Amino acid sequence: MKGLILSGGKGTRLYPLTYTKAKQLIPVANKPVLFRVIEAIRDAGISEIGIVVGDTAAEIRDAVGPGDQWGVEITYIQQSAPLGLAHAVKESQSFLQRERFVMFLGDNCLEGGISPLIEQFGQSEWNAQIVLTAVPDPTQFGVAELDAQGQIIRLVEKPKEPKSNLALVGIYMFDQHIWEAVDAIKPSWRGELEITDAIQYLVEHGYRVFPYIHRGWWIDTGKKTDMLDANRLILEELTHTITGFVDRDSQVSGKVTIEAGAQIINSVVRGPAIIGEHTRIVNSYVGPFTSIYHHCRVEDSEIEHSIVLENSEIVDIPHRVEDSLVGRNVKIHRSPIKPKAYKMMLGDNSDVGIL
Ligand code: G1P
Repeated sequence: MKGLILSGGKGTRLYPLTYTKAKQLIPVANKPVLFRVIEAIRDAGISEIGIVVGDTAAEIRDAVGPGDQWGVEITYIQQSAPLGLAHAVKESQSFLQRERFVMFLGDNCLEGGISPLIEQFGQSEWNAQIVLTAVPDPTQFGVAELDAQGQIIRLVEKPKEPKSNLALVGIYMFDQHIWEAVDAIKPSWRGELEITDAIQYLVEHGYRVFPYIHRGWWIDTGKKTDMLDANRLILEELTHTITGFVDRDSQVSGKVTIEAGAQIINSVVRGPAIIGEHTRIVNSYVGPFTSIYHHCRVEDSEIEHSIVLENSEIVDIPHRVEDSLVGRNVKIHRSPIKPKAYKMMLGDNSDVGIL
């Protein structure tokens, strides 16, 4: 079996962060979402993985490399234009050939334990397997209608009047019959070749498509709130590990990871939280559901329920920072220079909330 990860897409809902960083590389609990996807596929025993890339190809190649760090072999597939998930599959045919494969969307986060399911498909007789989960607003997703026996009747992409609350999660498994399906379908109203339509084609033509219902959490990390939710859920799965330094005047409680070279000085860290390599937390409070990536500095400040990316500084801020997503190389500090005013240099589409 082979693995295919779709990692094109501009991540427009995460501007300005994604002007300079592919959304799949934004870390959640200090690890890029894309790395978590690679690990899930590797853990299913798959070692040949194709990554479909778009405009952010160079950055993804730089971050992921040839796959050695996970013991897998990665092939990059350049998608000629962002024309849909089924189009990306089509352009991956020379890599996949006639093997069974699992396809993962590179920005999806899922509660652990999907690897046995993928492994199982490798040996099964099914032509395809889809993963479904109940969601509050199905109109945002591909939706499956099942019969009383739990078999698929119909799949519809972003229906206005959904027939069920079961959304298609961004994990799909196929055999070679998918080639016939992606060649047969036509672009949807949004001008894309929809993978949902390709699976519907399989259902209509008598191929066996198995619907697996996922009961744990699942997050498609497209927006800030999704990133913060995924961060919170993954932090809760981590175990308490302190590799860095915590001085005697500090208190670290709950599930906290302090990575190598990190320093906690005269501070309180209340988990679940993670403090990245060579980050310094000084005279500060880091509250639950916070991930601070590597080489950051938090000094004389308080932060909670937030994600901070690498090389950023939060220094001497009078109010607690909450529900925030802070990019790379960002400085948030007080300015002694008169006049007393907010002095900012913000990227396009930034969103700042002031007390
Ligand atoms: C895509 C699929 C949709 C699926 C979703 C999962 O939607 O088309 O069927 O439910 O991923 O994240 P898109 O992200 O293209 O809107």
